[in-house]
Parts: sequence; C-alpha cells; structure tokens
Amino acid sequence: MNIIALDGPSASGKSSTARAVAQALGWSHLDSGALYRGLTLVALEIASARGVAADSVAAREIVDAAEGRGLQLHSDGTTFLVYLDGLPKDDAVRTPEVTAHVSAVSAMPDVRMWVDHRMREMVHGGLKVVIDGRDIGSVVFPEAPLKVFLTATPEARASRRLSQRGEEVDIPALERESGVLAERDRKDSSREVAPLRQPADALLLDSTRLSFQAQVDWIVGKAKERGLV
Ligand code: CDP
Repeated sequence: MNIIALDGPSASGKSSTARAVAQALGWSHLDSGALYRGLTLVALEIASARGVAADSVAAREIVDAAEGRGLQLHSDGTTFLVYLDGLPKDDAVRTPEVTAHVSAVSAMPDVRMWVDHRMREMVHGGLKVVIDGRDIGSVVFPEAPLKVFLTATPEARASRRLSQRGEEVDIPALERESGVLAERDRKDSSREVAPLRQPADALLLDSTRLSFQAQVDWIVGKAKERGLV
C-alpha cells in the first residue's frame, strides 16, 4: 500500500508539507481536511437558506446535499482540490466562517464515514499518495507503511498561519491566533469519533525549529529508508 499518513494539529504545516513530499516523490497529495471543509460549506449554505444554526443541520442531509452537488476532489497535477457544483472551491472552503464550523461538522459520524469511504475508494484505485489530516494513520489507513505526526509549538503555528494570510505577526495577533488554533485542537482532540491522536507507530516530527525544506527532506528520507520509493 503506497500511503504516507501525515497527521497533526491545526496549522502544523501538514498540507504544504504533504504537497511538497508528494511532488518530490512523484506521488499525489490528498488533503482530507479539504473534504471536511467542503461539507462544512454545504452545511453553512443549508443553514443560511433556512435561517438556522449550522450545527442543527443533520449529517445525512449534509452528505446527501454534497453528493447531489457533486462535492469531489480533482487533481491539479499533484494536489486534489475541492470542487462543488462543477467549480473549484479552494478559497471558499478556507474562509474564517468555514474554519469556525469545521470541527463541529467533522465530529458527525456519518460525515466521517462519507469522507473515509471517498478516500479509501481513491487509494484502492492504486493511487500513490501522501494524505494529511487528523486520523489518517490512526483510523482511516492504520496499515499505512509510513506515518508521521507533524507538530510545532502553538506560537510557531500561529505565526505561520498569520504569515500565510498576509497578516502582521505581532503579539496581540499571535495571542488571538494561538487561541483560535487551541480551541480547534481541543474540539478535534476531544470528539468521540476519530479524535486527533498520535498513533503509537507514527514518527514524531516537531517542525518548530526546522526549515520547510528540512522537514520535507526528512519525510522523503524516511520514505526511502522504508523502501517506498
Ligand atoms: O487549518 P488546517 O489546515 O490545520 O486544517 P484542515 O486540515 O484543513 O482541517 C480542517 C478541519 O477538518 C480540522 O480542524 C478537523 O476538524 C477536520 N479534519 C478531521 O476531522 N479529520 C481529518 N482527517 C482532517 C480534517
């Protein structure tokens, strides 16, 4: 099975790292969070049309609406990007509103089953893939031959997320962003189904003091050591 599972807390750099590792290996990159974000966008649209709160929309309804609107992933050559209604939605699924609701939607068991099924289908088609998420090595692909748990201090993660959005990195902004990340991590780690957890057989990679290239090279090196390439 050609899978590298890359799990970790919010803004630990999983997606950009997974994409660069996939590129280095000539593999594909699957961002499981993008699917949860797509489902959250659908839930928010249903809720707003009805004038109700997003968490009052049932999981089955979210999944059926997402299926009906063709929520799926298309490759841009390396990374699979989210499409809805036949259009790319990469920006629309990364708004603060989607980010604020994604932990609640992704805690719904039927939502998780739908996402897991989609990913397993893609991998069983023979895809060589680097997948990033929260439960890829622990629940979705426990048989993955290489599992990495990527982390960094809350300050480092907050600083990277602010820079990524082009915002100023000062102390008030760092405090605010660390608080938002900590709250999402708390929700993702304390949910009943597939909580964020470091699998016992995952390699821990703390990227606080590593350059981006160093962390990518480290994972590529482990893939080579394990004979995956
Ligand atoms: O913001 P960041 O890139 O760190 O998050 P993401 O990977 O886009 O994931 C967004 C949210 O989806 C997470 O906060 C989790 O609530 C959920 N998620 C999950 O539950 N399981 C996964 N395998 C991936 C994401």
